[in-house]
Amino acid sequence: MFMGNTNKILLFNNLILCSTMFTIITGTQFGDEGKGKIVDLMAREYDLIVRFQGGDNAGHTVVVNGKKYKLHLTPSGVLFDARLLIGPGTVLNPQTLARELDTLADDGTVVDEKKLGIDAKTSIIMPYHVELDGLGESARSVKIGTTKRGIGYAYIDKVARDEVQMADLADEERLRRRLEELTPIKAAQIQSMGGDPSIMEDETWIRTYIELGRRFAPFIADVSHEINTALDKGKKVLAEGAQGAHLDVIHGTQKFVTSSSCIAGSACANLGVGPTRVDEVMGILKAYITRVGEGPLPTELKDKMGDRIREAGGEFGTTTGRPRRCGWFDLPLVKKSVALNGYTQIALTKLDVLSGIHPLKVCTAYELDGVRLDYPPESTADLARCVPVFEDLSGWEGDLTGIRSMDALPDGAIEYLSRLESLVGVPFKYISVGPGREQTFMK
Ligand code: IMP
Repeated sequence: MFMGNTNKILLFNNLILCSTMFTIITGTQFGDEGKGKIVDLMAREYDLIVRFQGGDNAGHTVVVNGKKYKLHLTPSGVLFDARLLIGPGTVLNPQTLARELDTLADDGTVVDEKKLGIDAKTSIIMPYHVELDGLGESARSVKIGTTKRGIGYAYIDKVARDEVQMADLADEERLRRRLEELTPIKAAQIQSMGGDPSIMEDETWIRTYIELGRRFAPFIADVSHEINTALDKGKKVLAEGAQGAHLDVIHGTQKFVTSSSCIAGSACANLGVGPTRVDEVMGILKAYITRVGEGPLPTELKDKMGDRIREAGGEFGTTTGRPRRCGWFDLPLVKKSVALNGYTQIALTKLDVLSGIHPLKVCTAYELDGVRLDYPPESTADLARCVPVFEDLSGWEGDLTGIRSMDALPDGAIEYLSRLESLVGVPFKYISVGPGREQTFMK
């Protein structure tokens, strides 16, 4: 299945960017591994960049020439020539997309229908989904810590077949008919959860959505057909995941997960592309671990070391601004995401953040009820009880952010990378030492 057929090689900043026909990129941990930066780096090599799941709960920060772009919905390749696609497995808040496209236009990047396609079947996040997300979270005695973007409730409606699709949004008559049909169901649900059902008849947002539907009507596309046709013609497609393996709705740390499947196989299912077409699966791996929201994080540092990593790594959510929980590198969780995704290569990010820490701890196994485990237990409740078993590495001194090659790294950093690579068992291809495009080199 993974043919790894490298058919184009390009040099950029001493990086050999190998592009294959169909590459999937996913997060190996709990999201926020730096996928946006790596997709941005690889984007110049691809003809199509595609989002396959999630919504504006995601946040990618891309830094170009010192300027920061914070994107939630727009695929990360927006700053290159590639065409961008938003697949039908995503949930799309048209207000967020409009805001992002307006900001990009202010900076001189025009994203029109030639640049961006949105699948006709994409589920739309409606204002009542955001309302329901807030009501749901406050009613929960044990919180999930959602981003309150209405993601879960939009996916609930997709599965219940009560969603508004992109094709409905784009046609005023269809939208009004659909809302008429949905209003009794949604109003009852909102009321039963203690909310104000009048939101369902509020013409202010309905008119805004009609306008947004008109704006995005020309962007409507058939994403599966477009990708398959592009692959048939020998074009290159990059599928960009959001969140990370352990936030996957099926295989993640339920119930503390997002509402979509974030692993590589989900790209095929959500985009309508057969698994036989996949060439490479790249995992983005942070040199330590972070998590936003609730749920187990066995190596979490609740002390000054956690604060230090948070500050050094700028570990605050792109979407909600919440401080991210930080912890030591957790090998059992990474092993599981290697299994879930079938990675062929890894990009390791944020190595620079760990400078000056002695020793650096790597969790190589857990202990649970006196038993040593080198793979996470399948039950989330059991994972929450796991006690990490650490191996110490010496660490290094000095700022890594100006380093552009492996041989310029201090010995301690090389030791850390080599140890992680041999433990993870997947080749490390890129090493990133800062947020800028130029701060990446080949392993
Ligand atoms: P939801 O996706 O808003 O429903 O939130 C469910 C869980 O996923 C919460 O713990 C969020 O913090 C987490 N989450 C959602 N999107 C992201 C992301 O892009 N990065 C990291 N965590 C996320």
